[in-house]
This record gives sequence, C-alpha cells and structure tokens, in this order.
Amino acid sequence: MTTLCSKLHVVGLFSFIFSCSLLAAASAASLKVGFYAQICPSAETIVRKTVNEAVWRNPGMAAGLIRMHFHDCFVRGCDASVLLKSLPGNPPAERDNPANNPSLRGFEVIDEAKARIEALCPGTVSCADIIAFAARDSAYTAGGIYYAVPSGRRDGRVSLSDEVLQNLPAPFFNATQLAQSFARKGMSVDEMVTLSGAHSIGVAHCSSFSNRLYSFNATHPQDPSLDPNYAAFLKTRCPPPPVGAVGDVKTTVPLDIVTPNRLDNKYYSELRRHRGLLTSDQTLMDSGSTSGMVVQNERNGAGWVRKFARAMVHMGSLDVLTETQGEIRRICSVLN
Ligand code: HEM
Ligand SMILES: *[C@@H]1O[C@H](CO)[C@@H](O)[C@H](O)[C@H]1NC(C)=O
Ligand SMILES: *[C@@H]1O[C@H](CO)[C@@H](O)[C@H](O)[C@H]1NC(C)=O
Repeated sequence: MTTLCSKLHVVGLFSFIFSCSLLAAASAASLKVGFYAQICPSAETIVRKTVNEAVWRNPGMAAGLIRMHFHDCFVRGCDASVLLKSLPGNPPAERDNPANNPSLRGFEVIDEAKARIEALCPGTVSCADIIAFAARDSAYTAGGIYYAVPSGRRDGRVSLSDEVLQNLPAPFFNATQLAQSFARKGMSVDEMVTLSGAHSIGVAHCSSFSNRLYSFNATHPQDPSLDPNYAAFLKTRCPPPPVGAVGDVKTTVPLDIVTPNRLDNKYYSELRRHRGLLTSDQTLMDSGSTSGMVVQNERNGAGWVRKFARAMVHMGSLDVLTETQGEIRRICSVLN
C-alpha cells in the first residue's frame, strides 16, 4: 500500500490523499462478519468462552480487554502490535511503553484463547481478530452490549514503543486535544465522547490523575473541576507523591465509583457531578459541544449503547492489515 500511495503522489496531492483514503476504506471494507465461519467455525465461541472464564475469575479483565483493543487500534492499526514482546537488541515494543506497562492487562487471556484456537485450526485466526472478539465479548459480559465483529484482520510485524505516545491520547488532554487525537484516526467528536464511556468500568492508577489532587497549577493545587468530597476520598487512596515524582504507580481507583464493573452510561452522570477521574474524562464537560453529548448519553442509555457498538466496530477497522499483508502469528507475543 505504501508503494501504491507514493506512486500516486506524482498525480498530485489531492488525488494522493483521495486514492490513499479509498485504499484504506477498501481494506477496512474487506473485513467481514463471519470470516472464520468456514475455516475455523468455533473461533468466536472459543474466544467468548475464554473471556467469560477470565472475567468470572476477575471482573476487571473485561475492562483490560476493551482497553487493549483501543491501544492496539490507535497505534499502527488493529494489528496486534500491542501484544509483541520487546526483543533484546531491538528498540522496545509498544507493550513496554509506560502507557501499557504495567497497567495494560489481559495478555494472558488472549494467549489462552489463541492456544485453544491453534489446537483446532493452526495458523488460521489472527491475534488482531482475537483482541477484537475479546473486546466485544467483554462489552457483552460487563454491559450486555452486543455487536457483530467484522473480521479478517492480519497481524503486523512491527511494534515500536516510540509510536505509542504519538498516537494515544493522554489522560491530561483537554477536550480539544482529545478531539484532535480521534480526528487523526478519522473518528468524530461524538465517537470520542461515546467511547470515553468505556471508562464506566476498570481502574486507573494514582499516577494517572494525582496531579489533579496535589499539583494542578500555580494558584490551585487541587483541580477545581473535581468535586471536593470526591477529591477528599481520592486523597485517602492516593497519598501525595514525593516532590518531583509522578505519584503512586501501584494503587488503583475505579474510573466509575457508582458501577465500577458495569459497562453502562452512569459514567456520564458522574461527569455531571464532577466525579470524572481523569482530566480527559472531566474535560468533556468543559465545552458546550461535548457537554451536550455527555448529557445526551446520560439521558438516552439505549442510544449510547447503539453508538458505542458502532464506534467500537469503526475503531476496530482502523488501518487494518488484510489478505496477504502481515501474517497470522502462531504465538501472539512473538513474530513467526
Ligand atoms: C479519550 C481518550 C482516552 C484517554 C486519555 C484514556 C486514558 C486512560 C487511562 C490513563 C487509563 C488508566 C490507566 C491506569 O492508570 O491504569 C485508562 C483506563 C481505561 N481505558 Fe481509557 N482512555 C481513553 C479512551 C479510551 C477508549 C476509547 C477506551 C475503549 C473503548 C478506553 C478504555 C479504557 C478502560 C476499559 C480502562 C480501564 C482499564 C483497566 O481497568 O484495566 N479508554 N484510560
Ligand atoms: C487545550 O490544550 C492546548 C494545548 O495545551 C491549548 O493550546 C488549548 O488552549 C487548550 N484548550 C482549551 C479549551 O483549554
Ligand atoms: C489554575 O486553574 C484555574 C482553574 O482552571 C484557573 O482559573 C487559573 O487561572 C489557573 N491558574 C494558573 C496560574 O494557571
């Protein structure tokens, strides 16, 4: 695809962008629901069973797997690059970027599903598809949200830690920066607000938000957009970091304190009460456009569920590899 795009470049910038986006769309369109129906009919069932067992043992796993799909898709497309382990003598892989290590969880669930699938259909089902199925099954167990996942993704052969922070939005971003980060992936502001609803489950480490408690800015040590009672509670969980340090990297706090293990639209009610945990959550109330979407998602739970499902499918189609691109990894954490 790179060569084709650069050849087209000579035709002019407009047709360059146009043709390349057509190509990207064509490759996303070639994902299809039921891709494994003939070649590995039990693939999706095996993933679902593996996810259900893992979530039953640890409800937080659902959150981990949904986040894993996001971190995979925003960095080099949904190609399972997030699963590759760093190799000695090579630049570190995505998995070892501080945005993923140590907080990203669920690797062993993907490995287990992959091993079970390999035993039945060797070399057939990509790790990238397994992540997409696992995120969907997690949304179902944690929120009763169901959607069909188009599949046929292939696994990438490149994973670079350096690419992570250039592509993933940071927890201290404001609404404008979040919108820009999603726009770079071709995703809308409404999709950004809708998918932020994933923070209705799971946890964050104190280090991801303790600046809001102790070192917000020169005049306000505490973020005034944070409900004072909620801030007082958070301070009991996250003690002040030593001067110059980022904060406790071990302790975690639920992203949504009312229904921490239920993927639902209560997250949006909490934002209205100034109980968004990350700056990137509470900032959605800052501007008229995004706060309107928050209110809408809070009032219309069924509408949010439909948008969430659609946005997950869209996110799952970002920059995918298909057909003869990439490979089908035999072990998700290492190249073939
Ligand atoms: C809008 C921009 C986003 C930012 C800035 C962001 C940032 C973060 C941060 C900092 C954490 C906590 C990490 C830690 O301290 O352990 C987190 C957790 C989480 N994020 Fe996001 N995120 C965003 C969007 C998303 C999206 C689009 C999804 C999925 C669709 C998602 C799913 C999750 C989940 C489920 C957790 C909890 C993970 C767990 O408990 O293991 N996030 N996010
Ligand atoms: C958001 O952050 C950017 C970069 O720091 C800044 O230029 C912009 O003014 C901020 N926007 C708002 C609305 O605060
Ligand atoms: C600190 O933040 C508050 C609230 O956002 C703001 O009103 C104030 O101007 C900021 N102060 C500085 C020095 O940036």
